[in-house]
Amino acid sequence: MTVREPPYPEHLRSVVDDYLQALSFGDDPRTARLTEAMRYSLLAGGKRVRPVLTLAVAEELGRPPQTALPTAAALELIHTYSLIHDDLPAIDNDTLRRGKPTCHVVYGEDIAILAGDGLFAEAFRLVLEQQAGAVDLVLAALREIAGATGVWGMVGGQYMDVTAAATGDDDLRQLHAMKTGRLIEAAVVCGAILCGCTTDGELAPYRAFAREIGLLFQIVDDILDVEGEASELGKSAGKDQQLAKLTYVSRHGLEGARTLAAECYARAQERLGGLGGDTQSLAAIAAYIYRRHN
Ligand code: IPE
Ligand code: IPE
Ligand code: MG
Ligand code: MG
Ligand code: MG
Repeated sequence: MTVREPPYPEHLRSVVDDYLQALSFGDDPRTARLTEAMRYSLLAGGKRVRPVLTLAVAEELGRPPQTALPTAAALELIHTYSLIHDDLPAIDNDTLRRGKPTCHVVYGEDIAILAGDGLFAEAFRLVLEQQAGAVDLVLAALREIAGATGVWGMVGGQYMDVTAAATGDDDLRQLHAMKTGRLIEAAVVCGAILCGCTTDGELAPYRAFAREIGLLFQIVDDILDVEGEASELGKSAGKDQQLAKLTYVSRHGLEGARTLAAECYARAQERLGGLGGDTQSLAAIAAYIYRRHN
């Protein structure tokens, strides 16, 4: 029997893409190549999973997606910054990203580092200047994003990745939760915050769901690195083994990683039941994260 799953919410992806396309980082000719590099990586494509999640949560809470759009877009700027830096020779040394040569290949390492820094800072400016809503809600969203990107989030996880600091199963789970999971959690939680959920109790079901899809996202990424092809992935395959990274596949084998991904997906679906509204788009994103090929 084939299980019919709802399709990825393309209507939300196009809202995000249109907004990103219209963003300007200034038109001063003295910084033109910097802003060109930022836009090159930002607009190269990408699944837009993080901002689409933010908008899907607004939808689930019965609000228009525009309620959280600047913050959703800011998360994509931050994610793109993390990819530019992840691809640098000093980190993963990758030459292909989103189906195109990586930022440093086209613009040089110096400009690529600055393009990443620029996207990170512009993300905060975007939220502070464009995000509508009560000040306490916007500040709570920024606090969530800052936490998700710092030492207890993406950057700390990347540090554990490059220093091979994880050794046991718990460490590996923690590495994935920080490196990838935390930003995905922020995407979900910011959607809820900007729609007025502020207490730990109100946010708890969103965090519980987001933690599962965040972990799932990186387990599947580890699997695709082994199984996928560069032409479909839009990035080189086989890098993790080449760089001797500790991943779910290196730790548990391909079959083991697949089983853990299936369990994680089942938990995510269960957690979704803890949300009160229309969860169709969120269910579709979770299914997509599990079954994607790129
Ligand atoms: C890749 O992220 C980096 C990881 C966190 C595994 P995505 O798979 O979301 O990349 P894009 O945004 O679609 O290019
Ligand atoms: C990187 O993980 C996650 C980030 C924080 C950017 P990977 O190094 O596995 O991501 P890919 O496979 O290069 O996209
Ligand atoms: Mg990496
Ligand atoms: Mg990488
Ligand atoms: Mg990877």
